[in-house]
Amino acid sequence: MRKPIIAGNWKMYKTINEAIDLANGLKREFFKLDFAKVDAVLCPAFTALSEVAEVLNETDIGLGAQDVYWQDEGAFTGEVSPAMLKDAGCQYVIIGHSERRQFFGETNEAVNKKIKASLKHGLAPIICVGENLQERESNQTFKVIQDHVQGSLSGISADDLAKTVIAYEPVWAIGTGKTATPEQAQEVHKYIRDLLANLYNQEVADSIRIQYGGSVKPENITELIGKPDVDGALVGGASLKVDSFSVIVMRASEVVK
Ligand code: 13P
Repeated sequence: MRKPIIAGNWKMYKTINEAIDLANGLKREFFKLDFAKVDAVLCPAFTALSEVAEVLNETDIGLGAQDVYWQDEGAFTGEVSPAMLKDAGCQYVIIGHSERRQFFGETNEAVNKKIKASLKHGLAPIICVGENLQERESNQTFKVIQDHVQGSLSGISADDLAKTVIAYEPVWAIGTGKTATPEQAQEVHKYIRDLLANLYNQEVADSIRIQYGGSVKPENITELIGKPDVDGALVGGASLKVDSFSVIVMRASEVVK
C-alpha cells in the first residue's frame, strides 16, 4: 500500500514572517492528523527554509525546497547546493517543475543531474513531469511524459528510484483552475507506472508514489486520490492558506482504497 503524500509548493510567495505564520497555522491543524495515513510536506522559498524548519522541528511534517543545483559547492552565483538544503532542514526537493522548464530553460539533462546530486546527499527528489496544452491537444501527452520520465531518470538505479516521488503536473492545469479529471490523471499515472515497470521492474514501479498537481483543491482531492494510481498531490495556490491546505491533507488521509 502506498501512503499518500501531499506537498505544498509555495512557489515565490511568502516573506519569512508570513511563512512562519503559515507553518505555525498548519502545525496547529495537523496536530489531529494521523501521520500513519498521509505524509505532508511544505516547500517554502529558499529564504524561509530555516525558519520553517524550526517551526516544524519535532513534528512529522516534512520540509522541501523548490529547486537545487547539482554541484556540492563552488563559484555558482545564485545557486544552492543539496548539502545547503540538508543543512537548512530539508528532506525533500522539487526538481524539474514546469515553471523551471518553461521560464528558466531547465532541460531533462539538468533535471537528471539535480536528481542524482540530491540522492547523493539524502534528499528525496519530487520529480515533475507533464505536458502543455498544445502537446495534449496534438496527442503528444504520452510521448512528452515518456521523454520527461526517461530523460530525468537516466542512469538512476532502481534502489535510488524507490527514494523518489514523481509528480504528474499537466501544465494546462497549473494555476488555471482547470483540473485534470480524475480519469485523465489516472490514465497518465498508470502510463507512468507501466513505463517504470518496463524501465526498471514491477516491484519498484508499484512502490513509487505518483502525485498529481494542477489546481488541486479541497473540493477535488478526494476524487483524485480515490483513483488507484494517484498517490498524492503537489499543491500550489491552495497550499498558501491554512484552511485549504489542511483540509486537502486531512481528506487525503481519509481516503481508503
Ligand atoms: P496550482 O495548484 O496553483 O495549480 O499549482 C500546481 C503546481 O504547480 C504545484 O507545483
